[in-house]
Amino acid sequence: MNLLITGGLGFIGSNLIRYFLDKYPAYRIINLDAISWGAHLESLADREADPRYTFIQGSISDKALVNEIFSGERFGPIEGVINLAAESHVDRSIFDPSIFVQTNVAGTQVLLGAALRFIKKDELGRFRFLQVSTDEVYGSLGQAGYFTEERPLRPNNPYAATKAAADLLCRAYFHTYSLPVVTTRASNTYGPYQDVEKFIPLTITALLNDRPVPIYGDGLNVRDWLHITDHCLALDLALHGGRPGEVYNIGARSERTNLEIAKMILHLLGKSESLLTFVDDRLGHDRRYAIDPTKIERELGWSPKTNFNAGLLETIQWYEVHRNWWNG
Ligand SMILES: NC(=O)c1ccc[n+]([C@@H]2O[C@H](COP(=O)([O-])OP(=O)(O)OC[C@H]3O[C@@H](n4cnc5c(N)ncnc54)[C@H](O)[C@@H]3O)[C@@H](O)[C@H]2O)c1
Repeated sequence: MNLLITGGLGFIGSNLIRYFLDKYPAYRIINLDAISWGAHLESLADREADPRYTFIQGSISDKALVNEIFSGERFGPIEGVINLAAESHVDRSIFDPSIFVQTNVAGTQVLLGAALRFIKKDELGRFRFLQVSTDEVYGSLGQAGYFTEERPLRPNNPYAATKAAADLLCRAYFHTYSLPVVTTRASNTYGPYQDVEKFIPLTITALLNDRPVPIYGDGLNVRDWLHITDHCLALDLALHGGRPGEVYNIGARSERTNLEIAKMILHLLGKSESLLTFVDDRLGHDRRYAIDPTKIERELGWSPKTNFNAGLLETIQWYEVHRNWWNG
């Protein structure tokens, strides 16, 4: 399979490319990444010499470049797309939403448009466009209830709004043009190679350097944590077995408050609680996210394999050992 993965230098993308290269020896992977925020070239440095892997620096919003990739002249026909490219940091979207609209919405449309233009009608049955989305598109939950795929989209911050807009474009390309799009909506993901501006790596690296850890508001916002390897497996299953036009939620039924996680990391690193510093809450901070993953479990046979405590410990150890990756 000739697979185009966008945003492959980011957290999920770099883990996913590693996973695909290891699992599918016959796959060729083209990674289109703009090297924007969250990108780390070093994350895939050990794969650069692999003839099955090609990195192209460029934006998914660059129509000429995207059309050239899809035209097949350089790499042969594209048989699948996994669209991970996104501006992904909520705080940055609150500061300046414009680039989020450009990449997350307009860029996704450029990819959908190119797929529609270049994938031949008789190849559409085998072609898949996997849109990697987030539970944030559903908005916030109260103390009870879970997000199912039927829940209305009620995004509350500019990042989530742009992801929701992209999801709706994907839906429209399926219904209007029969483009075989599958959408996943995953919960907060953690693991190696995540940029240190995100909550878990931020907390780990601050504590490794004996610096204070900022906790938004009262620290009681709840997220449903998913290990990166479980997320990669779910994307693999959704690409190969997901039904076109369908949405699959991905979550490990692992709800934790931010404060609980910060305290777990403190405890595992043997640091003092005095390093926790409560700061003003994020604007529009959603209180609780929680995924109902029944559909992907039943239809695609997915289930999470990584227990949160073990996954968190492994992640801490990875950041301890890979100081050059995050300090550099
Ligand atoms: N991290 C999570 O918890 C999580 C959960 C659910 C869904 N997602 C989604 O998964 C995707 C990847 O998330 P991540 O955490 O790896 O993000 P990330 O910020 O670590 O990586 C995003 C990557 O996209 C690239 N990029 C940005 N703009 C681009 C453009 N115009 N063209 C090409 N590449 C561009 C960046 O350079 C970066 O390498 C995003 O779409 C995000 O919405 C993330």
